[in-house]
Amino acid sequence: MAHKPDYEELLKKLAEAEEIISALRNQELDAVVGTKSVLFIRLKETEDQLKEQRKYLEDLLAERTRLLEDLKIHQVELETQAEELRRAQREAQDLLDKYLDLYDHAPVGYLTLDKGGVIIEVNVTATEMLSLDKKELIHTPITKLISPDSQNEFHFHMNRVFETGTTQTSEIRIRKGNGLTFHAKLQSMAVSSGDRTKNVRTSLSDITGRKKAEEELHQYREHLEEIVARRTRELRELSHRLVDAQEKERTTIGNELHDEIGQYLTYCTLLIDRASRKPDPEVLAQAKASVQDAMSLIRDLSSMLSPRLLKSAGLLTAVESLLSEYTRRTGIKVDLDHSGIGEVPEDAGLAIYRIIQESLTNVARHAQASEVKVSLSRQNDDLCLEVADNGIGFESGFDRKSTGLTGMRERAVALRGELTIDSRKGQGTRVIAAIPLSEPSNV
Ligand SMILES: Nc1ncnc2c1ncn2[C@@H]1O[C@H](COP(=O)(O)OP(=O)(O)OP(=O)(O)O)[C@@H](O)[C@H]1O
Ligand SMILES: [Mg+2]
Repeated sequence: MAHKPDYEELLKKLAEAEEIISALRNQELDAVVGTKSVLFIRLKETEDQLKEQRKYLEDLLAERTRLLEDLKIHQVELETQAEELRRAQREAQDLLDKYLDLYDHAPVGYLTLDKGGVIIEVNVTATEMLSLDKKELIHTPITKLISPDSQNEFHFHMNRVFETGTTQTSEIRIRKGNGLTFHAKLQSMAVSSGDRTKNVRTSLSDITGRKKAEEELHQYREHLEEIVARRTRELRELSHRLVDAQEKERTTIGNELHDEIGQYLTYCTLLIDRASRKPDPEVLAQAKASVQDAMSLIRDLSSMLSPRLLKSAGLLTAVESLLSEYTRRTGIKVDLDHSGIGEVPEDAGLAIYRIIQESLTNVARHAQASEVKVSLSRQNDDLCLEVADNGIGFESGFDRKSTGLTGMRERAVALRGELTIDSRKGQGTRVIAAIPLSEPSNV
């Protein structure tokens, strides 16, 4: 490439040349001739320099054109890069917005605390949970929001966070801006803050509902345990009383067999002896009547022990027979009302039969009643019974010592049913029972 020309030199030479040319024009030939050869030489030099300059300028132009092209290429590249950067920036902004939205409206409250427990960051959920603005929370020590009874727990929580370096969970009570408190679950972990110290990132969830449910469950469990303990006690007592009752019943049957039937049979033996010594149709008729009395007594005893009719003829027939026998023995009128009870399973039939039997015995023993109404019906899937008398009544209730009433109720409960006594002094007594006939569901 040509050297960069000395412009001042060039201008000087051009001025000289102009001078010579103007002298020529003015016919100053002598002077011209004297300087002609010098002039020529200078003109030649000037021409060379001008050529050189031209060459320099051409090179410069070529260089500039190349540079311009390079620049254009760079410019396009830069514009592409700038566009990519703008796109990346937009994406980063979108992500940041999304993250902030998720952070702010996460289902749990988020707090960042410095090492001393001062709040330095908080999301919207936490402000809502605490009923305080962001401004009120930032720079506030979190201990101000913790109820006095949870301060120790929170202190240990923070210590564990720094000592273990792992996530720690605690349940504490928090006091809100409006003065109300709630049960909160804290989950905290230490995070680097950038200046070598550690901050604590804490999530906060309101577990008041869960605590309440736990409390209710606890109370319910205690209540159930109480019921189970009471029922166990009742059943134990009942079982003792049933053993007693069984013993009494055996004694009664033994006495009946010995005193009543034995008496009939002894009398009968005497009559037969007498008739064998001297046949007498009158004596034989008496012996026969005595045997029949014994047989009737055996039948009564047998049906008291096991109601055979129940199996062979069904509940209704067995109840009808029980009632007519009862009226015959006690003179108390019994009215039976029944409506479409249909087929009844054996266990439910036996339970209803025994409840009627005990109710009627009670009427005969305690009620001083003249009339009893027994109703049997089927409502939905329940077999329902009511035995009502018009006697003196009593202050009803299941006294633990009353084997008869408790036994009736146990029979109903054993079949998932229930039994209540409705009685008041002077107002008669109603025994009401319902036994479900449907299969128990597994739920
Ligand atoms: N229909 C009734 N009318 C009046 N009092 C009754 C009637 N049924 C029961 N009672 C009262 O309730 C008490 C308890 O009855 P429950 O059948 O449990 O015992 P009980 O008849 O005395 O003896 P058992 O254990 O032999 O049946 C009776 O002692 C009686 O005072
Ligand atoms: Mg009784």
